[in-house]
Formats: sequence, C-alpha cells, structure tokens
Amino acid sequence: MEERSGSRKTAKHMDKSSNVLSKEDPEGNLPSILVNHYQFCGYDLEITRYLNERMGVSAFVWNSGLTLCQFFQQEKINFSGMKVLELGSGTGIVGILAALLGGEVTLTDQIQALKQIEYNVSVNVPDSCRHLPKIRALSWGFDQVHFPSDYDIILGSDIVYYPSDFPLLLQTLRHLSNQRTTIYIATELRGCCAAHKFHEEIIPQYFNSRIVYRNQSADINLYKLTLKVPKTGEELSMEKETRKKLLSN
Ligand SMILES: C[S@@+](CC[C@H](N)C(=O)[O-])C[C@H]1O[C@@H](n2cnc3c(N)ncnc32)[C@H](O)[C@@H]1O
Repeated sequence: MEERSGSRKTAKHMDKSSNVLSKEDPEGNLPSILVNHYQFCGYDLEITRYLNERMGVSAFVWNSGLTLCQFFQQEKINFSGMKVLELGSGTGIVGILAALLGGEVTLTDQIQALKQIEYNVSVNVPDSCRHLPKIRALSWGFDQVHFPSDYDIILGSDIVYYPSDFPLLLQTLRHLSNQRTTIYIATELRGCCAAHKFHEEIIPQYFNSRIVYRNQSADINLYKLTLKVPKTGEELSMEKETRKKLLSN
C-alpha cells in the first residue's frame, strides 16, 4: 500500500476535489486529501480520501473493508448477473471492487460521504464497465424505504459499532433483503462486546448467520447472513408501496 499525499498525482486530484468541495467551503480553503493504492483481484484501486471534519469515519479505508476485498480475492468471487448494494461505503473501495467483478452495484452512505465515493468510482471504474455503479444516500432506519428488496448481495464493512444504530441497521437489512439475498458483513470486534452482541444475539433472531472468513491478526470476522424470519405483514406492505413508487418514477 502506497500513500502519496505530496505527489503529482495528488496535485491533479486536488484540483478535481477542490472543484467538488468548493461549494461547501466558504473560506475557499482547499480540502486535504490522501491517495492510497490497494491491489485486489488483479485491479489496482486508487482510493482518495477527503480529510475534512465532516467526513468523520468515512475518511478512512478500514481494515474490515480490506478484509472483505481479500475474501473476494481468495474466493475468486464473480458478481456477474448479481444486483449488489453496499451499506456505509465510506471511500467506496468494496463496492468499486464488486462492480469491477461484474456486479450491478449501488454504493450507499450518508450524504457527506457521497462526493468522495463518486470521485473514487470515477477514477477506478472505466466507462466500459458493464454496469456503472450507482451512488445514493441511505441513512439506516430512514432511507431504506426508497430502495427495493430484491438485492442478490448486500455488503457492509465496519458498519457495526454504535449500539444506538443497531436497531436502524437491522431494520435496513430486513427491508433490503429477501429469502434469496446473501449479506456479507465484515466486523472488527475491537475486543468490545457491543459488536459481538449484535452478531451473536440480535442478528440470529432474524437471520441465519455464520462466520465464513476471519482475519485473525485484526480480529475481524466476516459473517454471511440470510433471512430467517418471514417478514411481517407491515413490512411486506411497505415493500409493496416502495415497489409501486419505484415503478411509477
Ligand atoms: C467505519 S466506516 C466504514 C467505511 C467502509 N465500509 C470501510 O470499510 O472502509 C462506517 C461507514 O458507515 C457509515 N455510516 C455510519 N452510520 C450510518 C448510518 N446511520 N447510516 C448510513 N451510513 C452510516 C459512515 O458514514 C461510514 O462511511
């Protein structure tokens, strides 16, 4: 992995990034950015991070994301023909790799992270890619109702850490999935019991769950989930409403 914050390459990106962010920066200050390279599945991924205080945890490439990419590489995953949604994309590295591996991918995050994701998608995914990724705001527990429930794959890396978000995340996962959906969530346990509780106590109430990959040195588990409990009548009618709205747009 290479970090080139002072290189010619960074200067080029600085121009583009400052265009993107200048509307949000009344002082006219250039945002700081960092560029890193990661190699997975034969691709050289150039990931730019926008370092301003609004970005928070989105401004990092987390080890859980890299672990998910390692898993795709090790298992030679091919997403061709699959409709994929990523939650909490951050820099977009996971969703970008899934798109390069053939998936019809939607990357999502909170609004403040979307420009960074858009930029990384534009740099890494060629126009010739069969399905150009979509990028959309999805705040857990609120925006999922604007998305369908027909995804083949849902991805998430390092999205399980604030216990207050657990009910929102659960609600979102249940809305987006159906009986045929496979969900992969890579979680760094960080020696704390909250994430452990989410995966070992909360998730198994609604999903079949098993660990399919472990990054021992970083204490990261990759969980594979499928829906277990049938959805409630209320959930199903909400999905029907969503489908109707999406079709009429
Ligand atoms: C720790 S970062 C992980 C980023 C990326 N997946 C990775 O592995 O590098 C968590 C991501 O989840 C997003 N996130 C946190 N809470 C969220 C919420 N309530 N709704 C939507 N996204 C959220 C953050 O904006 C951030 O990009």
